[in-house]
Amino acid sequence: MAFLSDAISRIAPSATVAISRKAADMKRNGRDVISLAAGEPDFDTPLNVREAAIRAMAEGKTRYTNVDGIPELKAAVARKFKRDNNISAAPEEIMIGSGGKQIIFNALLATLNPGDEVIIPVPYWVSYPEIVRLCDATPVFARADASTGFKLSPEALDAAITPKTKWLILNTPSNPTGAAYSAAELKALTDVLMRHPHVHVLTDDIYEVLVYDGGSFATVVQMEPALQPRTLTMNGVSKSHAMTGWRIGYCTGPKELIGAMTKLQGQSTTNPSSIAQWAAVEALDGPQEFLAGWRAKFQERRDLVVKGLNANTGLDCLTPEGAFYVFPSVTNLLGKTSKTGTKLNTDEDFVMALLDETGVALVHGTAFGSPGAMRLSYAASNKELEDAVGRIQEFCAGIR
Ligand SMILES: Cc1ncc(COP(=O)(O)O)c(C=O)c1O
Repeated sequence: MAFLSDAISRIAPSATVAISRKAADMKRNGRDVISLAAGEPDFDTPLNVREAAIRAMAEGKTRYTNVDGIPELKAAVARKFKRDNNISAAPEEIMIGSGGKQIIFNALLATLNPGDEVIIPVPYWVSYPEIVRLCDATPVFARADASTGFKLSPEALDAAITPKTKWLILNTPSNPTGAAYSAAELKALTDVLMRHPHVHVLTDDIYEVLVYDGGSFATVVQMEPALQPRTLTMNGVSKSHAMTGWRIGYCTGPKELIGAMTKLQGQSTTNPSSIAQWAAVEALDGPQEFLAGWRAKFQERRDLVVKGLNANTGLDCLTPEGAFYVFPSVTNLLGKTSKTGTKLNTDEDFVMALLDETGVALVHGTAFGSPGAMRLSYAASNKELEDAVGRIQEFCAGIR
């Protein structure tokens, strides 16, 4: 009898692990490595948020909390959804998890049966298909390639829906492409969903605050309030307040779903860290003015990177609307050979050779379901980015 479960055998290890491990090994061996493979802001958690955590500890707020989160944080989340997204949510329609990822995990595990289908636009965030597979359900991939700005078209969504579809997972702004749907683009999708009342929507809004060029963020329920009874709106403080290590995500959805997710969390991790929850109250209720500065910095970095990658390199990079990723195509350079003689047959060959020869770590597109591309995270200093772009240009110039 096999020791490991069928469920664990169905999922792949994180595809970014190999490249991250290799970058770390190279660094340890004294190589000058610039890692643009990670998905986290390089800014510090705002001081007022850190101080709120210290206060919580000093005041002894260090015990188990309600499974679905402290009432004060749920109230702050309700205010946030109303203020920013025009979504009204009662306390029993809100829950807190240990990161946005746990919210997604809870929602899928609480709802999926074998044979259920989940529509995932491609390129996708690496965890979506793996969590679906863990639940023994079936990911259904809907292409959203560079020709549509990496956005799912209403036609592609409609074509992917079957009687077995339980969820559509929508992530805007997107990891890995940075694509952010405009209100009109999102409305075109919600119009399709209105015609298919059995489909639920999980919107991953974790990059909400990072939309550039003065564009505004839109989410499903805001565009089509009639979808609220079948939408789980997920968000968190990881990216918005540079709190990736604190592990706080939150959501609003129909009471039945939130109840099921809470039951599951009560038998797994119980509550998210009490201290991190109090810090998140301050993050959501405290001043948000700093975000404009972060956005301006990220936009400047995005422009620096896109310009450098398109400067006669053979790469082809769209200018994305949001998040902190770009997703250039490498297809023009595949089938060729690097300066040191490495054959570049696939996107993975490309990023591995780039790392070997220049010390710049990126993630290959295949990890996100899109062969022939790669993801660069520009959550790094301008100096590092300029250095990295220079090395990438030199690497591309050496390809024969
Ligand atoms: C699209 C997307 N969703 C969810 C998450 C998970 O966020 P958290 O760190 O809050 O679990 C990430 C983190 O990289 C992400 O990129």
